[in-house]
Amino acid sequence: MAGSKVGKLYDEWSATYDTVANPTRDLEKRACESLLDQHSFERVLELGGGTGKNTAWLAERSREVVSVDLSPEMQAVARKKVTAANVEFRIGDVTAAWNFGNVFDLITCSLILEHVEDLRHIFSEAARVLIPGGRFYVCELHPFKQYKGSKARFESKEGLKVVECFTHHISDYTNAALISGFSIERIDEWFDGYDRSTVPRLLSLLFRNKG
Ligand SMILES: C[S@@+](CC[C@H](N)C(=O)[O-])C[C@H]1O[C@@H](n2cnc3c(N)ncnc32)[C@H](O)[C@@H]1O
Repeated sequence: MAGSKVGKLYDEWSATYDTVANPTRDLEKRACESLLDQHSFERVLELGGGTGKNTAWLAERSREVVSVDLSPEMQAVARKKVTAANVEFRIGDVTAAWNFGNVFDLITCSLILEHVEDLRHIFSEAARVLIPGGRFYVCELHPFKQYKGSKARFESKEGLKVVECFTHHISDYTNAALISGFSIERIDEWFDGYDRSTVPRLLSLLFRNKG
């Protein structure tokens, strides 16, 4: 199964995910905080929360966070780091029907959708569990980077391992969102060293559920 293969690779990556230099991981944190800083939330659903890079920050801005991940080992790191009482960790696969609860006013996807082939499933489930007006934040490796061959990868004892990735064009995100009844609030591109003359590393999109 594709999902379990991805989960097993992230189980392995969990040992070094937080400690090895990773500009994509670090830039996404900046994107997430600068786009969501002006808001506070009631119930947040964090998809692919991983080792909890954004979880504690989201918990400070909300009443409750449900953080879901496929990889028990990635989440084990997060559970150790994030001890806030308003965070519930759940193991789950976002490519299946969601049973993570509903009435969320924010869903976040940080660096996870490159591992998900069918974006329409994600947006239709997001629309189902978000309240009207709720926000959906997506930040992913920019497709321009994907076109040049960039993928999620890490060094292991056996050498370089590459996680299965799908290329999503910008219109794949926006069309999947529009079909599920979202409006587009913002689209931003994030560059290494703020250098806009280079290929952008990350694409972020902020959607609102029209309900
Ligand atoms: C690159 S990490 C990002 C982690 C964290 N969001 C961050 O920004 O550091 C991708 C995460 O997505 C999770 N993931 C991948 N496919 C998934 C799926 N189908 N369902 C749930 N989580 C998934 C992986 O286990 C991993 O923890």
